[in-house]
Amino acid sequence: MEIKTFKSSYLRETKDALRSAFYHENSDALFNEWEFAEKLLASDGYLPELCMIATDEKNVVGYNALTKAKIGSSQGLALGPLGVRKEYQNKGIGSALVRECVGRAERSGFPWIALLGGGYYSRFGFESGKPYGITVSENAFDNEHLQILFLDESVKGKISGRLVYCDAFYDAEGNLL
Ligand SMILES: CC(C)(COP(=O)(O)OP(=O)(O)OC[C@H]1O[C@@H](n2cnc3c(N)ncnc32)[C@H](O)[C@@H]1OP(=O)(O)O)[C@@H](O)C(=O)NCCC(=O)NCCS
Repeated sequence: MEIKTFKSSYLRETKDALRSAFYHENSDALFNEWEFAEKLLASDGYLPELCMIATDEKNVVGYNALTKAKIGSSQGLALGPLGVRKEYQNKGIGSALVRECVGRAERSGFPWIALLGGGYYSRFGFESGKPYGITVSENAFDNEHLQILFLDESVKGKISGRLVYCDAFYDAEGNLL
């Protein structure tokens, strides 16, 4: 398994891998993670060096993106979507993608990475945004799932407010997708 920087020549296979990771009966025809990966390419928050894929020989088996985000005036990153092809899950691929992205973000000098997600992320040092007064929407469920990893410890406790993703994460009415 190899972790590589995403290139648009991998798009078709990447979408296939994300579909395998995320597809369920109630998947939304208008918004889903595999179409979102394509939308992200045209976004103002897309950072090519921080968009990664995992490959097994020649197949794309996983994907993770970090995109520009803000909390107040602090510029950081948002993580996601992260997905690993179903039959490749639980083999350390998701962890390898997260660790590589976090390492690159740290080397690029970003102070934090935020995400909306579940229990998977605490192993990488992500913690709840709640004690810091960091929110993402009016929705309590979203805010409950807001997590942050401080890459620069000196900003801890100094930033609070609403996490604002790049344009690709919002619909035409400004609602978080
Ligand atoms: C979540 C996901 C990216 C993890 O990637 P992976 O390559 O399977 O994970 P790894 O092999 O690195 O890690 C496996 C460990 O994570 C745990 N894990 C996997 N999914 C988890 C989840 N949703 N919540 C909590 N723990 C999870 C496994 O139980 C396993 O634990 P262990 O190390 O104690 O045995 C992958 O399962 C996936 O694509 N899931 C569907 C899409 C998704 O939910 N994406 C995340 C959106 S927030």
